[in-house]
Amino acid sequence: EVPVVELASHGLKFEVPRGKTLLEAAQDAGIGFPCDCKVGTCGTCRFKLLDGKLSELNSAAVCLSGEDFRDGWRLGCQSIPVTSLRIHLAGLVSEVGPPPSLFEGKVASVTPLSHDIVELRLQLNRPLTFIPGQYADLRIDGIDGARSYSFAEAPEQGSTDRPCFHVRRVPGGAFTTWLFEGDRVGFALTLRGPLGQFRLRQADGPIVCVAGGSGLAPIKCMLEKALLDQCVRPVTLLYGGREQRDLYCRHAIAELAASWPAPFDYIPVLSTEDAQSDWTGQRGLVADKLLGLPELAQSQIYLCGPPPMVDAAESIALRAGVPSDAVFADRFFDRS
Ligand code: FES
Repeated sequence: EVPVVELASHGLKFEVPRGKTLLEAAQDAGIGFPCDCKVGTCGTCRFKLLDGKLSELNSAAVCLSGEDFRDGWRLGCQSIPVTSLRIHLAGLVSEVGPPPSLFEGKVASVTPLSHDIVELRLQLNRPLTFIPGQYADLRIDGIDGARSYSFAEAPEQGSTDRPCFHVRRVPGGAFTTWLFEGDRVGFALTLRGPLGQFRLRQADGPIVCVAGGSGLAPIKCMLEKALLDQCVRPVTLLYGGREQRDLYCRHAIAELAASWPAPFDYIPVLSTEDAQSDWTGQRGLVADKLLGLPELAQSQIYLCGPPPMVDAAESIALRAGVPSDAVFADRFFDRS
């Protein structure tokens, strides 16, 4: 018998086919179950088990404490139902925007943005609506598994059939090698989305963003949308790279800053730039630069990039007095 999950908090039910996680089955059923990382590290998909039995893919989930666990909290992306379940969901399903669905598409263009990042633009078979900050899963024939990429550009009309993504080359990675080594324009692929919870939240205080690598994509997208929505909150955007050649989209960020109706500080920070070079900007670890910012404790903090950078920035922000519900993180490793 196929287990059924009842969302006690929302009066919804969905089936979970054998071998699927709660999260996968909910998304297949068109339910916007909150999620970000899908690998048990962010805690966005946490829910409370009210009734029933499940097994876990990774019982040592780092984002649930022993106390959480004893209180019945579990992770949707790590839970496989053994029996039918009744659960309470921590996040609101209604908060997540349009449910994900499947789109057919093809590669419209691939444009270099830096020495190891390209802009991948798709042409889809129909328009897609998403909340800036969200991501999509891309698949191409012949390469196993999906690759998740954040939308990198906010559509002016709220939806687009030509979404774009920033893809960083991962040496030896199947998907990125395929994309970087050859003319891929016109190749077919499928997109599943939109997915994820990362997005700008309502508030009045300053917006502080910390991005690393291609983690600039969702931040840029979110801020573009905020500008369209006439946001007047001050912005600080800290971007961490190793060397000058890692800085990308500087022109787009400069345009955003010039159009922003309030102060907008873009601060690139380089960690391994040659001491003899002509670089006159900030050096060091980008997360450390949070400490000197004015009004940090009154700000909302948005973090996106490699987990070590995000973890460091998160703990610095919390220690500086930023409330935990004002810190939003999207952790990812570059997809191979
Ligand atoms: Fe499940 Fe991040 S812990 S989506």
